[in-house]
Amino acid sequence: MSAGDVLLWIILPYVALATFVVGHWWRYRTDRFGWGARSTQLLERRILGWASPAFHFGILAAAGGHVIGLVIPASWTASLGISENAYHWFAAVAGGLAGLLTVVGFVGLLYRRTTNDRVRRTTTPADMVTYGLLTFLVLQGTYIAFGENLLADDAHHYRDTMGAWWRSLFALDPDVDAAVAAPFMYQLHAVAAWAFWAFFPFSRLVHVWSLPWQYIGRPPILYRRRFATSRRAARRGAR
Ligand code: HEM
Repeated sequence: MSAGDVLLWIILPYVALATFVVGHWWRYRTDRFGWGARSTQLLERRILGWASPAFHFGILAAAGGHVIGLVIPASWTASLGISENAYHWFAAVAGGLAGLLTVVGFVGLLYRRTTNDRVRRTTTPADMVTYGLLTFLVLQGTYIAFGENLLADDAHHYRDTMGAWWRSLFALDPDVDAAVAAPFMYQLHAVAAWAFWAFFPFSRLVHVWSLPWQYIGRPPILYRRRFATSRRAARRGAR
């Protein structure tokens, strides 16, 4: 095992995970008012209206795919009677569609953020790093889904390499050989993803943890017009 292997497949992931955990704690303690999505809907909503849902539905589907691919070992799906071939086609087609949706939405968000003057002015250096990392991960990940998985003749079984290595990290027994056995494109994706997780707590992405659960239980809001809208209502003195 070379020093480079130790750096990439042991030190980098644990440093990124530690930064992710401590970074959230630090951000929450020092920047509670800055914690959120920093919505720019008031500045522009025509493009945001389609680009944001496309991006979010796509990336959440892709995140679900990553959980299935990395957390669940191939032996588990095999014991459920799902063949490697069936799994591969499901992952490649669903992953490809999720990737396409994410790319379409993300291109819209980037276009809006760079061409709309008002939105551009709200863009911080942290946003630029976030968009840079997302651009790389989304485009390169979609390339893997299509180029190395859906359209390739001999698709790589990443659940036995990257998946096994990823799970071994959480068992505190890193399987470096499994990571080294993966093709370069998968390795590059994993390294970029650790950079993404390490930067996550310092970006607007922390909004992922702040879902408005209170909407489920809160009393309904009744909207009433301030002024009567029809003559009949006016006669009744409606407010
Ligand atoms: C957990 C579910 C999520 C919810 C409910 C959510 C909600 C939101 C909301 C309300 C906005 C503000 C949109 C606006 O500007 O009006 C936003 C923006 C954003 N979200 Fe999410 N989000 C979620 C997950 C994610 C994930 C997983 C990512 C990426 C990893 C992400 C990345 C972004 C980015 C980059 C923006 C800024 C878009 C822009 O203005 O250019 N979100 N999100």
